[in-house]
Amino acid sequence: MAHEPRVPLRPAVAALPAYVPGGRVAPGAAAFKLSSNENPYPPLPSVVAAIADAAADVNRYPDMYATELVEALADRLGVTAAEVVVGNGSVAVLAHVLQTVVEPGDEVVYPWRSFEAYPIAVAVAGGTSVQVPLLTGEGRGRLDLRAMAAAVTERTRVVLVCTPNNPTGPVVHRDELDAFLAAVPSDVLVVLDEAYLEFVRDPQAPDGLAVYAKHPNVVLLRTFSKAYGLAGLRVGHAVARPRLAAGIRAVSTPFGVSHVAQGAALASLRASDELLGRVEHLVEDRTRLVEGLRDQGWELPETQANFVWFDLGDRTVQRAEEARAAGAIVRPFAGEGLRVSVGEPEATDLFLRVSATWR
Ligand SMILES: Cc1ncc(COP(=O)(O)O)c(C=O)c1O
Repeated sequence: MAHEPRVPLRPAVAALPAYVPGGRVAPGAAAFKLSSNENPYPPLPSVVAAIADAAADVNRYPDMYATELVEALADRLGVTAAEVVVGNGSVAVLAHVLQTVVEPGDEVVYPWRSFEAYPIAVAVAGGTSVQVPLLTGEGRGRLDLRAMAAAVTERTRVVLVCTPNNPTGPVVHRDELDAFLAAVPSDVLVVLDEAYLEFVRDPQAPDGLAVYAKHPNVVLLRTFSKAYGLAGLRVGHAVARPRLAAGIRAVSTPFGVSHVAQGAALASLRASDELLGRVEHLVEDRTRLVEGLRDQGWELPETQANFVWFDLGDRTVQRAEEARAAGAIVRPFAGEGLRVSVGEPEATDLFLRVSATWR
């Protein structure tokens, strides 16, 4: 066996929690993949054509600043191109945001349970995680923004607000976010992670761009992975004030968004009416899933995303196995709960049959 080098790993790296990807469907197996909050629809023909076109140029490096995509996004969002930074998925953009502002030992406050990349990204940036539990009882699965504001100290550099929260599903409300932002010092960065924005229908949800316009310390994180169905190509973006955006660009991996991904994202923006029409169908399927579960007697957190969350505690892993055996691959968080993505209508039918057996 080859010897390992005598080079120590950074303690923060040796202690990193593993990112557990959603289970995959075995080659040739007939199962629905409801484990990664992906879009079940295949790419549109116009997007596939853009991908094929871009493939002809992969001997060249991509446009490092994804100029055309950044300009198209800025145009759509009503901000300047200087305020938009793209990256290799919003998870990479988040890592770059943290690397831009976090000094060793700085605290990063975020809700927990939330997106599992957060503790990893904070530790890699050299920061210290301060995890604030979600609400329990009435409003369970929601962010406790008051407790998050109270957790901010002189060492806090960033607060992550995941809305809708992955994996539980609720959004923060406009009034509570306003109160939170009024309480947080203006030299603390507040990242609104809006990965599931397009699925939100709650009229009390904040308008991220309006919040961003009002608060210079707010950064928006968005992605093409979910509503736009490009999870496999890895394109996300941040909206941030120009000086901060320039910092994020400076720490980003050079050429991090491939030429193919840039082309697909641009084609998706052009086809956004059709893609957002599909999102409307997914929201209808979410309603059907949530109502079916309610009829079965489940009381779940109010989801505004493309997934639902079951607090199953010790039964979680067993239930995930049962779902898999029935043909639905879901995402267990051992000892805590199950997250089930909204997939094809047939997947919803199948999952409702499985969840009925759990009552
Ligand atoms: C809350 C949240 N933020 C960000 C991401 C990352 O998305 P991507 O890196 O695919 O853009 C995810 C993906 O699951 C997520 O759930």
